[in-house]
Amino acid sequence: MKKIGRNDPCWCGSGKKYKVCHEAMDEKILVFKEKGCIVPTHDLIKTPEQIAGIRESGKVNVAVLDAVASEIKAGMSTEDIDRIVARVTKEYGAVAAPLGYEGFPKSVCTSINSQVCHGIPSEEDILEDGDIINVDVSTIYKGYFSDSSRMFCIGNVSEEMRRLVDITKQSIQVGLEQVKPWNFLGDMGEAIHTFIKEHGYSVVRDIGGHGVGLEFHEEPFVSYVSKKGTEMLMVPGMVFTIEPMVNMGTDEIFIDAENDWTVYTDDNMPSAQWEVTVAVTEDGYEILAW
Ligand code: MF3
Ligand code: CO
Repeated sequence: MKKIGRNDPCWCGSGKKYKVCHEAMDEKILVFKEKGCIVPTHDLIKTPEQIAGIRESGKVNVAVLDAVASEIKAGMSTEDIDRIVARVTKEYGAVAAPLGYEGFPKSVCTSINSQVCHGIPSEEDILEDGDIINVDVSTIYKGYFSDSSRMFCIGNVSEEMRRLVDITKQSIQVGLEQVKPWNFLGDMGEAIHTFIKEHGYSVVRDIGGHGVGLEFHEEPFVSYVSKKGTEMLMVPGMVFTIEPMVNMGTDEIFIDAENDWTVYTDDNMPSAQWEVTVAVTEDGYEILAW
């Protein structure tokens, strides 16, 4: 690769000279790389314009989730949730990213109780009093992708299951506190894992978060069972999801053999998940969708 001259335009497309744009950051990244750390490639570092685009996409994602929040109730099918997501997404002139993604048949993932993630909306799955459900919405707006999910408690949910939902939500905040430049993704992953274990739950190992923004799923893979000081270095402009799946019992999971999508806990105990899309800023983080 040809080295960029200091007076050449920056690789990020800002139009500024390299020396006043990303040169200092690149030099800092190189120091980490030479120490053997995993560092982001340039394509994982978004420009302010791209982040603005993902932020707008995130606003639609949040509006879709807000619409679900205002309508969700016992007696409704998960297909009804799919219809809300499809309708509101369209009203905003956006596209639901899941529909047709690697063959996924619906506009949203709906995962009830022991379903860990990737539940497929269906006319047959009716929300009952006492259920917990994850609604995972992903939006494409003007070419930019955002991805976030929330848990909903339907009617009278047991104290035990409410606690699972609350602790999982709190774990996102615990993770966010580790999101700042020159920390590692593993700092965030270990913080979440430690917090979850302290509360007696387990974290799913095999499925995690991902870079997001220009595509639905970008590098890096974001684990929540990683170790401090490992995994990719966090650099301003990176955008990824934090989306731990937290199980009341075992962390073992299996995939539905019939639809090849829906993930369940092995022991049939409940699972919860919250998801945010987050950007690394100059001094911390910005939530782009929740
Ligand atoms: N929203 C899921 C995630 O957080 C994506 C699932 S892929 C789909 O990564 F096709 F099922 F939508
Ligand atoms: Co995601």
